[in-house]
Amino acid sequence: MFCQWKVAFYRGMWYNFGVKILGIETSCDETAASVVEDGVRILSNVVVSQIDIFKEYGGVIPEVAARSHLEVMMPVINKALSDADCSWDMIDAIAVTHAPGLLGSLLIGTLTARTLAILHNKPLYAVHHLKSHVYANWLSSEKSSALESEDFSGNLPTFPLLALVVSGGHTQILYMSGHNRFEIVGTTVDDAVGECFDKVAKILGLPYPGGPSIAEAALKGDALKYHLPHPKVPNLDFSFSGLKTAVLRAVQKELNLPISHPSHDLKNHLSEQQIYDFAASFQKTAVEILCEKIEKSKEKYPDARSVVVAGGVSANKALRTALPEAFFPLPTLSGDNGAMVGAAAYYEIQSGVSPTDPYTLNIYPRISIV
Ligand SMILES: Nc1ncnc2c1ncn2[C@@H]1O[C@H](COP(=O)(O)OP(=O)(O)OP(=O)(O)O)[C@@H](O)[C@H]1O
Ligand SMILES: [Mg+2]
Repeated sequence: MFCQWKVAFYRGMWYNFGVKILGIETSCDETAASVVEDGVRILSNVVVSQIDIFKEYGGVIPEVAARSHLEVMMPVINKALSDADCSWDMIDAIAVTHAPGLLGSLLIGTLTARTLAILHNKPLYAVHHLKSHVYANWLSSEKSSALESEDFSGNLPTFPLLALVVSGGHTQILYMSGHNRFEIVGTTVDDAVGECFDKVAKILGLPYPGGPSIAEAALKGDALKYHLPHPKVPNLDFSFSGLKTAVLRAVQKELNLPISHPSHDLKNHLSEQQIYDFAASFQKTAVEILCEKIEKSKEKYPDARSVVVAGGVSANKALRTALPEAFFPLPTLSGDNGAMVGAAAYYEIQSGVSPTDPYTLNIYPRISIV
């Protein structure tokens, strides 16, 4: 397919170019659509977040999330098309997140994409959410066509590479030998690091989502004030539930309260400075844990030529500072968005993946990347 488009040979691979993909993402609490050209160039990127709805609950309610997706799905897609100055006949393919994520949320996105693919006779690609997060690192907001310009040979990750995926539901290190070729190097045995940021923020009484709140509070805190232990996890796996409990115990100890004291009440006893210091100490420890595992992975995979970081937590400035040589997505593309779905689908197509059947596409709320 795409044989009528220009092709270019780059880094051992033929690329089609001029390919416009509509990417649709609804795996959790963002309704997003984007038009991406050649997997690298964003023509539009529309994200409607449900954060304001879930702030008062302190977390996502799956049924409410699904209903909210339904309300804004088509307006978001229409805006993505109009922002990109694209009519349907200019779109070459549709890509949608089909796994993993919240069941109801995935259903709304995939049912919409399936219907549009049938209606407009477009090939449909089903993309794994973590792949999409990784491919946010290939996206730029450059207006020039990357494949036509020198930019393309510029600052892009080089294979083989290590990808650190740090999000609300996942914490994994992946080894990528090439486009769309993934191997799991390490994974969390319990909580994801983003989940840990969210839970620690709750203990400290900081607003949802916890990651940005902790990062902001940490700016005013002393990161050396509280010593928090690093979990002893063998090999390259992670564990973050112990770190959350360590914060809980440290807060109780600091306040001279027993370990039976309910966690939801602790925030009422903490001073502002104590909150800032706990936020800073926690963030420092979480970042150190991630960096240690990346360093160990580099020892195990000495041929890795790049490190890319992806997922919501990759927006974290302390993490960006701690890994100065790693690739990070544009901060606006760290969280869920449709552009990364379009980018991932483009490279799937380049690797020979066939479109999926829009009449039978299924969703997989819990499925591994490999
Ligand atoms: N600046 C930040 N620092 C730390 N964490 C952050 C920051 N910004 C966002 N996060 C965290 O990122 C997570 C959301 O990321 P993302 O949207 O990728 O997760 P998700 O899509 O819900 O989960 P998954 O991608 O695993 O399915 C939340 O846990 C949030 O607290
Ligand atoms: Mg995500």
